Amino acid sequence: MTDQLDLSTTAGKIADLRQRFQEAVVHPEKNALEKQHAKGKLTARERIELLVDRGSFTELDEYVRHRTTAFGMDRSRPYGDSVVTGIGTINGRTVAVYAQDFSTFGGSLGEVAGDKIIKVMEFAMRNGMPCIGMLDSGGARIQEGVVALGKYGEIFRLNTAASGVIPQISIIMGPAAGGAVYSPALTDFVVMVDKTSQMFVTGPDVIKTVTGEDVGMEELGGAHTHNTRSGVAHYLADDEDDAIDYVRSLLGFLPDNNMAELPYYESDFEWETTDADQFLNTVIPDSPNQPYDMHQVIAHIVDAGDFLEVQPLFAPNIVIGFGRIEGRTVGIIANQPSQMAGTLNIEAGEKASRFVRFCDAFSVPIVTLVDVPGYLPGTDQEWTGVIRRGAKLLYAYAEATVPLVTVILRKAYGGAYIVMGSKQLGADVNLAWPTAEIAVMGGQGAVNILYRGELKRAEEAGEDIAAVRTRLANEYTYNVASPFLAAERGELDGIIEPAHTRVSIAKALRALRGKRASLPAKKHGNIPL
Ligand code: HXC
Repeated sequence: MTDQLDLSTTAGKIADLRQRFQEAVVHPEKNALEKQHAKGKLTARERIELLVDRGSFTELDEYVRHRTTAFGMDRSRPYGDSVVTGIGTINGRTVAVYAQDFSTFGGSLGEVAGDKIIKVMEFAMRNGMPCIGMLDSGGARIQEGVVALGKYGEIFRLNTAASGVIPQISIIMGPAAGGAVYSPALTDFVVMVDKTSQMFVTGPDVIKTVTGEDVGMEELGGAHTHNTRSGVAHYLADDEDDAIDYVRSLLGFLPDNNMAELPYYESDFEWETTDADQFLNTVIPDSPNQPYDMHQVIAHIVDAGDFLEVQPLFAPNIVIGFGRIEGRTVGIIANQPSQMAGTLNIEAGEKASRFVRFCDAFSVPIVTLVDVPGYLPGTDQEWTGVIRRGAKLLYAYAEATVPLVTVILRKAYGGAYIVMGSKQLGADVNLAWPTAEIAVMGGQGAVNILYRGELKRAEEAGEDIAAVRTRLANEYTYNVASPFLAAERGELDGIIEPAHTRVSIAKALRALRGKRASLPAKKHGNIPL
């Protein structure tokens, strides 16, 4: 076709560009569409179009082609190679995007596909914008050997350099196999699409050969597995649309980079206690062992009840996510009494630690809602490292310099009291409800130790032992665990009516807007890993 054009003229050159664009983008896209739709998946470009604002996407490097000759690769040199990259906007804010194209060499990553990803990531870092990767790939391009591996190495290094500088989000929309999974693992949020995405370091065939284990792809590394069991993923999307909707909402809470202001939304914040606030005065059951749903509390604190939960299916005994108060983003960390009585275990601690560190890196104030009876006891926890792994949350809070506001709703016992944003770890404003119980341990446990003799005597005297224990436990809770004792010592800054919580937190966050805190100079600390 080019032969028929007069390339000595401007019009001819423009016509040539148009033809080449057809060849590089339009025709391959038709081919991709057929292949991907047959698998119930969208093409890389369709995914990008869904993610970014309509018409905002500028593609980069669509004329890039690989130079590999091994295995007859020189017979097929598709334009753009196996990834689509570029810049667009999401609700008017600029983002960098790459989407792997499974229809070209199985989305595998060779030299030039790697270079395209590296270029767009570097662009994002240099210009302070979030980077979103959509993964759908067979991993390192087998034909390119060590060159492909090297590109992954460069990407991992860039992911690490970008960590804490720009938000990085990965959406897994197909396979992510082998070492390739470590790029998403290094990013801040991983979203997986149900049934069509898988992540694994070694696949079912290798596992079968090496260990004899029989496991299917979905069970091994499907979206459900990584959302509920491994904690690798942060959201289980029903389909690709849902995944993209989640990411768009998530970005609405995040700043563009670590030096940028948090996004601000006009809010008609009500500074008087409202009728809706009264709900919080009734949420704590009279019986200390009765659960309630912490989501209801959160919904009554954040603007319009709008809470975007992160990792809802993993370690549900702790709830993390983003909301807004007075139009500004806050990170919420809350024990969940309706799951394992809100105890802390290894998974919950790690889930919350990483969230604290994300919020701290990006200047998102943290609101901690406490109702925790302690750490989950058991050999399983001890032997799988609750000491080492549980220390992460202490470290994360103790190192955080963002505004920290903590409200103790009910139980705050032992080490769990300290770790959940206590004053001593550096929280700025610590409040409690009158229902709070703050002590080394709960009433029943304390009575068993403190009143062993008295209980024995009562038993011998034929008294109703359960009634005696309950009376002593109530006395203990009233005399030792009362929040007023903590307030007397200034460990709490105030005790508030539950219905005043929303307004109290908002006032605290206002007061903390100018917070300046710094850590001692060091290369970096050594968080227990
Ligand atoms: C080159 C690849 C490829 C790869 C897939 N293709 N993976 N080409 N390098 N890594 C090609 C296939 O040859 C095929 O080409 C096309 O992509 C589609 O692949 P299919 O196998 O037909 O698709 P499907 O049945 O859906 O299976 C997808 C898959 C499977 C599960 C991902 O392709 C697979 O197992 N691929 C290898 C995965 C892997 O082990 N990768 C290396 C991981 S190690 P044609 O021409 O037939 O359409 C790694 C290291 C990272 O990534 C670096 C760490 C430091």
